[in-house]
Amino acid sequence: MRIVALASGSGSNLQTVIDAVVAGTLDVEIAAVGADHPDAGALARAAAAGIETFVVDFSEFGDRADWNHALTVTTASYAPDYVLSSGFMRIAGEEFTTAFEGRYLNTHPALLPAFPGAHGVRDALRYGVKVTGCTVHIADSGVDTGPILAQAAVPVLDTDTEEALHERIKVQERHLLLTVLGELAAGRTPQDYVSRA
Ligand code: GRF
Repeated sequence: MRIVALASGSGSNLQTVIDAVVAGTLDVEIAAVGADHPDAGALARAAAAGIETFVVDFSEFGDRADWNHALTVTTASYAPDYVLSSGFMRIAGEEFTTAFEGRYLNTHPALLPAFPGAHGVRDALRYGVKVTGCTVHIADSGVDTGPILAQAAVPVLDTDTEEALHERIKVQERHLLLTVLGELAAGRTPQDYVSRA
């Protein structure tokens, strides 16, 4: 199974995927890692592992549709089976989500549909929930919407800061991501996760 990973941040979740691929425990080929700005730490992690990288720099496009088109064309040029958003902090537009319909995976640090958006951890903490977690889902053109493939719960501690909670969520997020990628690589389809017997 061939994937392209998109990231905006440090790429620590992506690193887990890279490590599993290198260790031979995940039957996935990371064809390329792309980012929306050149300073994304994920790019350096990919380069260090000898993985091709690309940047479709959001700040260089006056028009969101033009940026989205460039992202779609560049991603498609690697012919991925799946595209993984691993901390990609831009909402891909319809051209992209149509091109990769049913094949665009996202991880989110909350139990969707609760707390979507860029601050899922902070929002859950502020709301005062006692349990939050993470979600792997098929992304559509909404904000963290689309069919849920897998979730894991993480208890909120009285002493939690946003950073501490996010770190514990990420531990679960990495497990979940590796599990889902492994299952997809073994031939399970997104439909298999969502259909009810
Ligand atoms: C993850 O929690 C992801 O769900 C969220 O941002 C985090 C990415 O962290 N959108 P990293 O860049 O993998 O360290």
